[in-house]
Amino acid sequence: MDNNLDWSALGFNYRKTDVNARYTFTEGKWSEMVITDDEYIKMHMSASCLHYGIELFEGLKAFRGVDGKVRLFRVRDNVERLRASAERLCLPVPTVEMVVDACIEVVKRNERHIPPYGSGASLYLRPIMFGTTAGLGVRPAKDALLIVYCSPVGAYFKEGIKPISVAIDREQDRAAPRGTGDVKVGGNYASSLLSGEHARKLGYSNVIYLDAAEHKYIEECGAANFFGIKEGKYITPKSNSVLPSITNKSLRQLARDMGLEVEDRKIPVEELATFEECGACGTAAIISPIGKIFDMQTNVVYDYGMKVGEKSLALYNKLQDIQHGRAEDKHGWCTIVL
Ligand code: PLP
Ligand code: COI
Repeated sequence: MDNNLDWSALGFNYRKTDVNARYTFTEGKWSEMVITDDEYIKMHMSASCLHYGIELFEGLKAFRGVDGKVRLFRVRDNVERLRASAERLCLPVPTVEMVVDACIEVVKRNERHIPPYGSGASLYLRPIMFGTTAGLGVRPAKDALLIVYCSPVGAYFKEGIKPISVAIDREQDRAAPRGTGDVKVGGNYASSLLSGEHARKLGYSNVIYLDAAEHKYIEECGAANFFGIKEGKYITPKSNSVLPSITNKSLRQLARDMGLEVEDRKIPVEELATFEECGACGTAAIISPIGKIFDMQTNVVYDYGMKVGEKSLALYNKLQDIQHGRAEDKHGWCTIVL
């Protein structure tokens, strides 16, 4: 344990740990897993990931529980999504076991960097994969590097479970209807930066993106999914350009367990006026309740009050209870690693 660290003061930043795990793909096959303490990569300047965005990543967390055990949350779901992203970018697709083993190994070998129970922090795992073939033409990479590394992190939004204010942007889109919005590839994040900075300068924590074809429906909230709650229903956008969030999938199940009805459907922007509660959800964000939404082009404001909604808080607690071993893992989401 890193005794000099104030775990509860950690933000969502990279912090060096002891080792990372790597696999390389060359000449049609994957290497064995290699464990290294090297934080750097030596790569050709003409590598395909640098020129054509042939890059994908994942994000998942390991939690130190009330019983002292370390739980990795829904690792297989993250690995399945990584495989879908690889498929979409014509990269070699690793087996589920390869990536799950690397995640487990990285948690075990970085045990002293796992934040203690009660600190509010967790160990964030970041699998990344990219094409490394040197060349100039636009074509799939023949070589790839897959790395799983980790970093202890605190809250993604400095507000923690306190409500955030977000802005709707109709001028820039995150992902095209049949583009890459439903996979976790770097290009989606690159295209979201400018609108994110614009919103931040106006004092908003994040951007709500609308569907790129019509700008009528809610898509995502920055690097998180959106949900709204009203009349006993948990409602979340259905779209083929939204990332299928594993947190959202878990919240949908927990909402059902709580007796809420779950609706997975298009959400017209105007419906924002009717929600009792709404929020952003994701591995990094967990649940960030949304207190206020400002439409940057129409100047319409949706105000939910800067208090945490009762149902959002109940969902947040149920999710965190499972992740920290305080509640029974009925759906089999946790892998006990240590
Ligand atoms: N949407 C986007 C664009 C994201 O980057 C993320 C983060 O991973 C999510 C949603 C939430 O997904 P998950 O709950 O699987 O972390
Ligand atoms: C996550 O929630 O894991 C994410 O990937 C968000 C990240 C882009 C900061």
